Amino acid sequence: MSVNRRKFLGASLLAGAGSALTAGNERGMPKPSPRRSANGKLAIGILGVGGRGRSHVQQLLYREDCEVTAINDIDPKALEACNQLFVKAGKPLPKAYLKGDRGYLDLLQNAGTDAIIIATPWEWHTEMAIESMKAGMYTATEVAGAFSLDECWELVNTHESTGSHLFFLENVNYRRDVMAVLNMVRQQVFGELIHLECGYQHDLRDVKFNNGKQEYGGGVEFNDRGFHEARWRTQHSVLRNGDLYPTHGIGPVAMMADINRGNRFVYLTSMASKGRGLHDYIVNHPQGGPDHPNAKIEFKLGDVVTTMIKCNNGETITLFHDTNLPRPYSLGFRVQGTKGLWMDVNQSLMIEGKTKSHEWTKADEWLRKFDHPLWKKYEKQAENAGHGGMDWFVIHSFVEGAKTNAPAAIDVYDAASWLCITPLSEESIALGSHPVTFPDFTRGRWLKNKNTFASGDLY
Ligand SMILES: NC(=O)c1ccc[n+]([C@@H]2O[C@H](COP(=O)([O-])OP(=O)(O)OC[C@H]3O[C@@H](n4cnc5c(N)ncnc54)[C@H](O)[C@@H]3O)[C@@H](O)[C@H]2O)c1
Repeated sequence: MSVNRRKFLGASLLAGAGSALTAGNERGMPKPSPRRSANGKLAIGILGVGGRGRSHVQQLLYREDCEVTAINDIDPKALEACNQLFVKAGKPLPKAYLKGDRGYLDLLQNAGTDAIIIATPWEWHTEMAIESMKAGMYTATEVAGAFSLDECWELVNTHESTGSHLFFLENVNYRRDVMAVLNMVRQQVFGELIHLECGYQHDLRDVKFNNGKQEYGGGVEFNDRGFHEARWRTQHSVLRNGDLYPTHGIGPVAMMADINRGNRFVYLTSMASKGRGLHDYIVNHPQGGPDHPNAKIEFKLGDVVTTMIKCNNGETITLFHDTNLPRPYSLGFRVQGTKGLWMDVNQSLMIEGKTKSHEWTKADEWLRKFDHPLWKKYEKQAENAGHGGMDWFVIHSFVEGAKTNAPAAIDVYDAASWLCITPLSEESIALGSHPVTFPDFTRGRWLKNKNTFASGDLY
C-alpha cells in the first residue's frame, strides 16, 4: 500500500471510530490495520466463489485500480472455476484458501488484503462480516435476510467499535430505471411520496443457477443432493415462514423514502398465504413424482408473503416475497405520490397535468429524460456487466469507497434496517400478523442524516 493511503486509512479509521475504537482495542480487538498489495492497487479477497462470487471476480478483473489477490471457498471445484477466470483474463492467480468452513479466518489474517467481498450462503454473512471488520477490512456483503435482530445489532456495533465500513451490495439500487425514478422523486415529479410497493417475485423452483440442467435435479433435489443455491437456499423454505429476501425490493424504495436519512421504518405487519408451490413442483417434475422422498416434505414458507411497513413520515410500503410459484420475474415497483405514480410491471406512469389523466403512459421517454447522471456518465463501462449493468455500479461504488476508506454508499445502518425485515416478518406471521416495531439502528441519527446516495459525480 502507498504510504499516503496507509496514513489516510489509519487517520480516517481513528477519526471515524473515536472513543468507540479505543474501547474496542481495550477489549483486545485487533486494531484495523491498513494493508495493501505492493503494486499500489486495492487488494481484494473474496469469501465464497460460487455463482455470485465469480460474477464479482469477473467485474473486478475488468478494472485496473484493484486486484483480487485471495479467494476462499469450501469447495475446490468453485475455486478451480474461479481460477479459470484469471487464466482467461491473463492475470496472476489469487492465493486460494481452502480449509473448511472457517478457512476464511486464515485469509483474513494472512492474505494482506484491504477489502473483502462476502458471497457465501446467507447463514455465513454476519459472522464473516464481523470478523472481516474486526480485521480492519473495508467489507462488502451480499444480499440476504437476517436470522435475528441481535445479528443486525452485531453488525452495527462491530462497525462502530472497529471503525471498519460495511458496504451492503444491493445492486438493484443501481438499476437504470430505479435510478431514473429516484432522480424523479428527488425532483418532486411525483409530488410528496405517499405509498411504495416492491418485492422479490422470482420463480426459483428450479433454482436458477442450474441453468435448467436436469442432472442437477432441476430443483427437486436440494441440500447435499442439490447444486449451487439448491444446496442451501431451499432449506429456508422448509423451515421458515417470512419474507426471506427483502432487500432487492426494499433497498431502492428505502433510498427514495430517505430511510435512515430523515425518515425511518416504524413497524410492519406480515401475512403469509398457504404454501403449495414447491410440493406441486416436486410431485409433477419428471425427476420427482408423488413417491419421491421430497414429496413428503411440508414446506413452512407461504408461497406469497406480503408485508406492510409504516414509515415515520407517514408513507406506507407493501413488500412481496413470491419465489415458489410459476410466474415471470418482476420486482413489482410502484412509487406513488400526490402528483402521480410509476409502476415497473407495465413500465408506465401517470403524472397529473403532464400525461393523460386516468390512463397509463409508457414511461420510456420520462425515464430517458430523468436518466441518472451516473448512468449517463458510466453507460459504456456498465454495458457488459450482469443484471443490465447494475452489477458494475455496485462494484464500482464499493471499490471507489474502499480506495479512500469513505463511508459506504449503502452502509451498515441500511443493511441492518433492510435485513431485519426477515426476522420481523417471521415474528409478525407467527403472531397472526401482529404489528412488530423496527429497532432504530441509527440510535437517533436518522433525524439529522442527509440522503447523499448516488449524489456524487464519482459514485
Ligand atoms: N445481488 C444479486 O443479484 C445476487 C445474485 C445471486 C446471488 N446473490 C447472493 O449471493 C450470495 C451467494 O449466492 P450464490 O448464488 O453465489 O450461491 P452459490 O451456492 O452459487 O455460492 C456460494 C458459495 O459459497 C461457498 N461456501 C459455502 N460455505 C462457505 C464457507 N463457510 N466458507 C467459504 N465458502 C463457503 C459454496 O461452496 C459456494 O461456492 C447469497 O447471499 C445470494 O443471495 C445475490
